[in-house]
Amino acid sequence: MLILGIETSCDDTALALVRGTDEGVKILNAMLSSQALAHAKYGGVVPELAVREHLKNLPMMTRHFMAESGVPWNQIDAVAVTRGPGLVASLLVGLNFARGLALALDRPLYGVNHLVGHLYSGFLAKGIKPQFPFLGLVVSGGHTLLIRADADGDFKRIGGTIDDAAGECLDKSARLLGLGYPGGPEIEQRASEGNRNQYAFPRSMDTQENYDFSFSGVKTSVRYFLEKHKEQISDPKFIADVCASLQEAVMTILAKKTVAAALNLGLKQITVGGGVACNRRLQYLLQEACQDHGLKLWITPPWLCTDNAAMIACVGWMRGREKRASELLCEADPSLRFNE
Ligand code: KG4
Ligand code: ZN
Repeated sequence: MLILGIETSCDDTALALVRGTDEGVKILNAMLSSQALAHAKYGGVVPELAVREHLKNLPMMTRHFMAESGVPWNQIDAVAVTRGPGLVASLLVGLNFARGLALALDRPLYGVNHLVGHLYSGFLAKGIKPQFPFLGLVVSGGHTLLIRADADGDFKRIGGTIDDAAGECLDKSARLLGLGYPGGPEIEQRASEGNRNQYAFPRSMDTQENYDFSFSGVKTSVRYFLEKHKEQISDPKFIADVCASLQEAVMTILAKKTVAAALNLGLKQITVGGGVACNRRLQYLLQEACQDHGLKLWITPPWLCTDNAAMIACVGWMRGREKRASELLCEADPSLRFNE
């Protein structure tokens, strides 16, 4: 099966062609147009701007992408598109474009949940694929979720953030620190020069017997801390130490609770997806703990951790494999939950 995936839920316009076989999915080609620069000067995503960019880019990109892929249109077996969660107008651009393609090609359309895309990004890694059941950590700018996946579509929320997402905490803290957007990569870069034990930022809900997270307190503590140390904010060493200590607080709690959940639930495999999964400190902490406990960990390559269309096509392939009915009339849902 050859699936065309389309992703426009936030500020990236992305396309991918994946081939699904009995052995799993393989990415044939992928293309992404990032709007990061366009939004950077506002310190976050501006929905109006995102929609205009998607409208401008998607048709041109698709034509270019298909020509570059060398795949005739009639070989596509299904179209998969993100239908939520995300910015509603951005979602509508992708969804309506995909609907038009599916109609013109007379192929099924699958409306995909972006969070399931991140959950399945481990299937896109080369080599041995994860097997159900597994525990998935989805950790991005909008979400922090621990999901038990027993089969395709059979998901249970084990835990998640009760306030800010981990990426959101990093993005907001970066802003306070005078760093650029998105904040996660900037903080990681500064952290590499800093001492992670220099300052103690809170590790919220650490002692609680559940798998929930809270990151808004971390961000607030960064704000108070910076107000107290105003005179040092122009010192690169100070910023590096704050970044390293902040990164440590966030990543330690993510890794600790994820591994505890897998152990307590008797799940032997963990997948990690979403933009924050690019973070090398998080990867290291997870790798170490998984090794200690005999758990198998799938770390998705960085370009597939952040938003991409291959993960959307991968979900479409799972649906197509089960011969699920076309969802031509599916609606965009900005607040779609992961098990809807
Ligand atoms: O999955 P994603 O591309 O978009 C959402 O669906 O949110 O994730 C973006 C988030 C941003 O908050 C960004 O700061 C964070 O992922 N991020 C990182 C890193 N790269 C991206 N956070 C920590 N370390 C990184 N290297
Ligand atoms: Zn995402």
